[in-house]
This record gives sequence, structure tokens and C-alpha cells, in this order.
Amino acid sequence: MKFETKAILIGQAADTATGATIVPIYQTSTFTQQEVNKNKGYEYSRVSNPTRTALDTCIASLEEGKYGLTFSSGLAAEHAILSMLRPGDHVIVPEDMYGGTYRLIKLILEPYNILFSFTDFTDLDCIQKAFIPATKMVWIETPTNPVLKIFDIKAITDLCHEKNAISVVDNTFASPFFQKPLLLGADIVVHSTTKYINGHSDIIGGAVVLNDTGYYEKIQLTQKSVGATPSPFDSWLTLRGLRTLALRMRQHEQNAFQVALFLEKQKTVEKVFFPGLETHPGHEIAKKQMTGYGGIVSFRIKGGMQEANNFFKKLKVFQLADSLGGVESLANYSYTMTHEAFPVELRKKIGVTDNLIRLSVGIEHFDDLLADLDYALKEIN
Ligand SMILES: Cc1ncc(COP(=O)(O)O)c(C=O)c1O
Repeated sequence: MKFETKAILIGQAADTATGATIVPIYQTSTFTQQEVNKNKGYEYSRVSNPTRTALDTCIASLEEGKYGLTFSSGLAAEHAILSMLRPGDHVIVPEDMYGGTYRLIKLILEPYNILFSFTDFTDLDCIQKAFIPATKMVWIETPTNPVLKIFDIKAITDLCHEKNAISVVDNTFASPFFQKPLLLGADIVVHSTTKYINGHSDIIGGAVVLNDTGYYEKIQLTQKSVGATPSPFDSWLTLRGLRTLALRMRQHEQNAFQVALFLEKQKTVEKVFFPGLETHPGHEIAKKQMTGYGGIVSFRIKGGMQEANNFFKKLKVFQLADSLGGVESLANYSYTMTHEAFPVELRKKIGVTDNLIRLSVGIEHFDDLLADLDYALKEIN
């Protein structure tokens, strides 16, 4: 079955109790049991809920994985994966990553004596050199937030197999429509479903997809014990969004291409980051491991914070906001928004400068998007 069909059918058979064609919102915390130790597969909604099961099943299928687990946020999903580690375990992570993941590592996990090495993931040698006997996991995020670096999933996961380390890929930016890390050798895929999977900026959610039963049981145990699960309503909204993922991703990408090409020609733009551009340093790897380049375009404006702020203030279609991946276009100032947890020096090193602007290109008509950018860019000084 093809992706578009799976998004609409998998996990979503007509409701057995009523015949409802659309998966119902099972808005219940508990389930009445027939007798002690006899129930219809559900007991308590922190553990599992039928609306959530439908979402788990569908996401797993779209990522080509055996198991899917959804969470109350992307960071809750990441935390559940990282909870498999024990004090003294070592993880190799990219210098470039979402700021919230960095905060989780620095402020929550390092104090538990889990060790992290931050390295340049565009250079396989750097990753290879970072391995120590205690290395248990390698964390990949590609394309990265916000400068859209591309890391070679197959090459890195091959290395992980050699070294017996678990490989995790944050696939939020590409979505399973454009990139399927499990097919490239990854052990675990993680998502902020808040973004493209839900696609309508009206929930916060996360997902984990994997094939290994042992890891699945451990992550599920954390989920059930900590309780960071999505509500039935949020699960339903996410499933509703997921059904149109293919259509939305195609349109996001088409618009993002137009925006990237437009920005490249502007006098007030210093540099454009979009993996679809042949000039992007990760373009060849992206071409190999992705079936599309996504909907995020970042760029450096000529100037600094003042010029960036002037630009944001003039936008009418793009809205200045955190987050990405919704149908509406958003503009983000990563320097003080998504990446404020990074020390200033590290922000500079990974290219999150005070003139960097990240655009989440929506699915509006691109004429309106280009006109909005054109107007705002002319007014920056
Ligand atoms: C790449 C990436 N991973 C994870 C997250 C965290 O997801 P959430 O905000 O749903 O917790 C984000 C959020 O922006 C993200 O961009």
C-alpha cells in the first residue's frame, strides 16, 4: 500500500462498536472491565486509549516501523528514549540540534551523570573519534533546526552498527513523507508531531517509531510510568492532520523552493539555507536520503537584530512565532527564540547568528508569500 493510502486507512478501520467511519474520540480515562483480569484490551488511558492506538499504528506504518508510541510532546518522546540510558552511559550528539533537546541534555540528563559529546556530524571522522567504550547511543537530527544541515543517516547508522550503539533520528523536519530513517538503518525515529505530522499548529505532541521489541518495551514502560501521553482529543486531531500529510508536504516543499529561489536574488539577503539548492553543502546527501527537501528555509539578512526585527514587524502573511510545520507560514528568530538555551558562543559556532531568520513556509499561495517577503525585505533599514 502506498503512503497516501496508508495515511488514510492504517489503524483506522470502522469502529467495531458503532460502525463509525472515522476513529472516535474515546474521551475516557478508564474502561469498564467484564470481570477481574478480563477486559476489551484497554484499562486506563495513561497506559493506552483506542484513539491513541489508531494514531500510534498509523505513524508506525508511515515510518515503516513495527511499533509506534505517541507522547504529549516531542520532548517527552525524546526523554522516554533517553531514559533507556544509565549513569555513566555516553551519547554522541550533533553540535547542531533543536534548542529544547540541548536543554534536556544539559539541564536534565547531564546532572544524572549521563555523558554527552557534541561533535560535527557533517564529518564522519569526528563521529568515529567521539566513540568511547561507554558509548550507547548516537543522536541524529537531520535536517537540523534551524540551519538545515544534512547528516548522512546511512553512513552514521552503519558506524553505530559496527560499534553496537543505538541510533536515533529526529525526523521532525523531513516528516516520514520525505525521509524514512528506519529504512536507512536507524534503530529509533522520534518526532515532534506538533510540526508536520499534525500540521495545523493546534496540538503539542511527539512520537517514537522503532522495530526492536526490547527498546519498545523500555520506552513504553517510561511512557506508562511517567505519563507523558497525548489526550484522546489531541490524538484525534493529530490523526486527522496526518491523513493529509502527503498533500501538505508536497505543497510546503513547492512553496519553500519558490521562497528559497526568491531570497537568493535579494540584495538585503546575505545567505540562504535550503537543502534543495544545489549550492547547499548537504544537497547531494539530501538527494540520496530524502524524497523531498521539506518546507523550511532559513536565511541571513544583511544586518543584525535590528534589521531582523524590522523585517518581522513588516510581515503580514508570515507570522513571528515559535514552531513550524503548520499550514500557515511562520517566521522565527532562532537566536533568542528556539535556541536561547545554547550559550552565545555555541550559537555563533553552529551559525545561529543574530541575523538568522527561519521561515516555516506554509501552503498559502506562493504569490502572497513572495509579495510579503518582498515588502518586508525592502523595509529593513
Ligand atoms: C527538531 C525538533 N525536535 C523536537 C522538538 C520538540 O518538540 P515539542 O515542542 O513537540 O516538544 C522540536 C520543537 O520545535 C523540534 O524542532
